[in-house]
Amino acid sequence: MTLVLSSHAGDPAQLATPLLALALSSDAKFPRALAALDAASGGGIGRAIKQRDFKGNRDESLLLFTTGRGPQRVLLIGMGALPAAGAVTRAASIAGRRANGMGVGKMAFWADGLDARGVENAAVGISLGAWEFTELKSAPASGEKTTPLSAAVICVGKIAGAAVALANGRAVAEGQRIARRLAMLPGNICTPSYIAQAARDIAKRHKLGCSVYGRADLKKFGMGSFLAVAQGTPQDPKLIVLEYRGGAKGAPPVALVGKGLCFDSGGISIKPADRMEWMKFDMSGAAGVLGAMEAIARMKLKINVVGLVGSTTNMPSGTSMNPGDVVTASNGKTIEIINTDAEGRLVLADVLVYAARFKPQAVIDAATLTGAVVVALGNTAVGVLGNDQALVDEVLAAGRLGGEPGWQLPLWPEYKEQIKSDVADMKNIGSRGAGTITAAHFLAEFTQGYQWVHLDIAGTAYTEADLVAIPRGPTGTPVRTFVEFVRGRAR
Ligand code: BES
Ligand code: MN
Ligand code: ZN
Repeated sequence: MTLVLSSHAGDPAQLATPLLALALSSDAKFPRALAALDAASGGGIGRAIKQRDFKGNRDESLLLFTTGRGPQRVLLIGMGALPAAGAVTRAASIAGRRANGMGVGKMAFWADGLDARGVENAAVGISLGAWEFTELKSAPASGEKTTPLSAAVICVGKIAGAAVALANGRAVAEGQRIARRLAMLPGNICTPSYIAQAARDIAKRHKLGCSVYGRADLKKFGMGSFLAVAQGTPQDPKLIVLEYRGGAKGAPPVALVGKGLCFDSGGISIKPADRMEWMKFDMSGAAGVLGAMEAIARMKLKINVVGLVGSTTNMPSGTSMNPGDVVTASNGKTIEIINTDAEGRLVLADVLVYAARFKPQAVIDAATLTGAVVVALGNTAVGVLGNDQALVDEVLAAGRLGGEPGWQLPLWPEYKEQIKSDVADMKNIGSRGAGTITAAHFLAEFTQGYQWVHLDIAGTAYTEADLVAIPRGPTGTPVRTFVEFVRGRAR
């Protein structure tokens, strides 16, 4: 279901809509802008606030039926004390989710004094919350059908740039939709070839350059590390390159790199069966790259961007790599494979080497790389590491702006001791502690000649628990971090 996002510049009281969501803070008095609406709808909003039925706490909500001719229902949503990062996005997301669940079909959204960013965040939030994955379910019997949310109107007041803000919001929302859908699709449907086709579709839509390389090409490139993972599966691995040229000819691009494991069983170092099905999301980094490319192309940003994806599956089989094997990556470095479940870094190693061909101004990779990042930061913060502090800070700022906050972990040389090997240049895992950092140290061995930041999104790209604003499943991370970073670099 596509969600049509539009804007309304007048009084929200005039909106004939089945549902108007009002995002309110906990500290504000009754907003004057809502006086007409409250009067026209029987005074219920004012009473609810005055009598403290609704306090405006974060995530709090109260549904009111109105009596007037404008909105039929009003949904009050709390944002807590302001200013709070991501408050509008979160409130809009809750609104979108509730509206979709209620089956009202259409909704409107209002928050006091939205600026252009706020309008964009509202658009993104609503579509984040209203998103649902139903394409693999049979259609319900006609009597049980609910109406998915198909249209949302954002009350924009009288600000300049509302149209652009809305267009930006649509662009990000569409990028996230693509990323979440790919992440949700199971491994038997979303194969490396399927991801390659999704990339071609984006390229075709926006006239991007697109190259897809298979097993034979990877051999030619000498990508022994990527191929080691891919040797366990009969599916053709894919190295996917998308080139967006919105900047000056020959200007160095930003490179976005994604881990695209369509399924990660662990290989010979096989994972426990419990919750192994979640490993279909191990291509969330790749999905994020594709989603970001879609959004960037829609926004027509004046910058060159190359998207790189390494995609395969990690399977145990008679042909799979084994613990103890030594392989050679495309930069000539040798790797002793200790644990075949540390496969993402093996794939990324060769893709990161390949990225240097583009002489990029910066490289950001996103990968569901380590369970350790979930232990360290839970489902709330992206793990951020890199070889250049200014770039790390820039990416952290982009993540904050995009509502996908990250937290830096130290890439200190002390940790690198852990990946020393007796037989090769390095081994693919460290010892017990600091798993996210040793994984990043491994990647750093393949990032010669450019500034690089690594995003470990294993805890944030999808959620096994319902997160109030976002249902179980893929979250859209890291699409917005990518987009905000690239936007910040565009001229
Ligand atoms: N895809 C996993 C990381 C992961 C684990 C994501 C749990 C989400 C939840 C990755 O390929 C992996 O298996 N990493 C291992 C590394 C270990 C063998 C050093 C891990 O984190 O357990
Ligand atoms: Mn693994
Ligand atoms: Zn993995």
